[in-house]
Amino acid sequence: MSAYAHHHHHHHGHKGTGASASSHNHEYFNKLAAEYDERHGKTLDRLIEEIRARLDFIGVAWVDDDDDNNNGDGSAVDDATTRAKKSEGTLEKTVRLLDYACGTGVVSRALAPYTTQCVGIDLSENMVAAYNTRAENQGLTPSEMHAYHGNLCVPEDPNPPAFASPEFTNFDVAAVGLGFHHFDDPALAARRLAERLKTGGVLMILDFLPHEKLDASHPATQTITHHGFTEEHIRRIYEEAGVGKDFALQELAAVFHLSKENGEEVKRKIFIARGTKA
Ligand SMILES: C[S@@+](CC[C@H](N)C(=O)[O-])C[C@H]1O[C@@H](n2cnc3c(N)ncnc32)[C@H](O)[C@@H]1O
Repeated sequence: MSAYAHHHHHHHGHKGTGASASSHNHEYFNKLAAEYDERHGKTLDRLIEEIRARLDFIGVAWVDDDDDNNNGDGSAVDDATTRAKKSEGTLEKTVRLLDYACGTGVVSRALAPYTTQCVGIDLSENMVAAYNTRAENQGLTPSEMHAYHGNLCVPEDPNPPAFASPEFTNFDVAAVGLGFHHFDDPALAARRLAERLKTGGVLMILDFLPHEKLDASHPATQTITHHGFTEEHIRRIYEEAGVGKDFALQELAAVFHLSKENGEEVKRKIFIARGTKA
């Protein structure tokens, strides 16, 4: 039995940490952090491939996105010169990614070769620790890839002091991988992320298309606020957050595999959406 099968169904309000889903997410993902990569390894590898296959679709002026710098199979090329310049901080061009609800950092890992800095934020301090361990193990410096513990979606806390410094604003791209269905208020999340983009910056969301509910016994049930999203819903979220310019959504070829408590496999369709801050 997995450690988090003993999920307690408490409903106390956590004032100041956001509404109901946040405390469940915090507890659930703290327990899942250590096994997240192993459990979802294959799916995460597919997601990385699919994100990299859509660099043009996402539409950011990436570093290293010219064809000369391509292995031919679409895989990452972080050539030595660019790498050296990045760590010296002497690469003139900067492309900064905010990876929100970053988890262990799959979106950052997908986009790191095409950016100069990845900044992760997550509600779970254990996820943040896993993200930072992976970044260090890859030989990346904190100025290249680092995550922080926090929540930008607390209604009564629009400007958390911990995220007030310039390092946390003016991003070229803000991305959320499989996080939106956990948020109490996805529209608020999109607005808070849009505020941290520069004009012309891109909000990228990867999440599930509409699906059936998990049965109530699944330990993740209380962490989920939305059973997927329709294209119309996502488009409205982008438009209302001021990032609806050139909005586009595509379904990925990869599906997300989840195993139910009874061992049954569930497959979820995944979309990728993008829109520009006008
Ligand atoms: C399914 S995981 C996805 C992680 C990673 N982005 C990925 O694609 O593998 C969802 C993540 O969202 C985080 N999370 C949930 N609610 C959050 C919130 N309000 N603010 C920040 N992170 C949140 C959880 O802690 C968890 O790490």
